[in-house]
Amino acid sequence: MEVIAALLLAAQAFWFMFPGYAVNSLAVLVGGGTPMDFGKTFTDGRRILGDGKTWRGFVGAALLGTGIGLIEQFAASAYPNPYLPPYSSSNTQALLLCLTLCFGSMSGDAIGSFIKRRLGYERGDKAFILDQFGFVLFSWLLLAVFFWDWFATRFLNLPAIIMVLVITPLLHRGINIVGYKLGKKKVPW
Ligand code: CTP
Ligand code: MG
Repeated sequence: MEVIAALLLAAQAFWFMFPGYAVNSLAVLVGGGTPMDFGKTFTDGRRILGDGKTWRGFVGAALLGTGIGLIEQFAASAYPNPYLPPYSSSNTQALLLCLTLCFGSMSGDAIGSFIKRRLGYERGDKAFILDQFGFVLFSWLLLAVFFWDWFATRFLNLPAIIMVLVITPLLHRGINIVGYKLGKKKVPW
């Protein structure tokens, strides 16, 4: 029974995180155009964020991800089951949660790039912890700040944390290989 309960928590956490994961690959698909740093350099002479962070990617992916979250919300409300619950009993609250998750995820990704540029990594260079977990950590931080109770009951349990630690790098790697094969990314990571 305990195994079932743990799997249930992990499955739920993945379900709730899914839009936050999706935004990263959506950015590869919809990105391009004006860079978020408008091509400007920081005091160290390196780009603030680099050409890999564009407004179209940031806003487009965050909105598409929010749309995915809302589809989850409506599907879960229409077909109630314990594994894939709705974000909230309120659709408005669900919208706010998904916006926070998805814009948080894209912001975490941009902050990761800012740190990478300061450390001297070029666009697309691999930076293990930053690339893989930066976006998760920042979206969790925002969720914790704005929706503490919601966040704590869904993500602050061992199965959820193990799910994130195991699934995130796998998903990240898989998605980047697909992006590379599609010619959307210069490197498969
Ligand atoms: N992308 C975008 N806008 C964003 C985030 C991502 O347009 N805000 C697109 C870019 O085409 C980017 C690709 O998605 O190259 C992959 O994103 P990511 O791996 O995060 O960027 P990198 O190119 O690896 O750059 P960095 O080293 O800054 O992470
Ligand atoms: Mg990258």
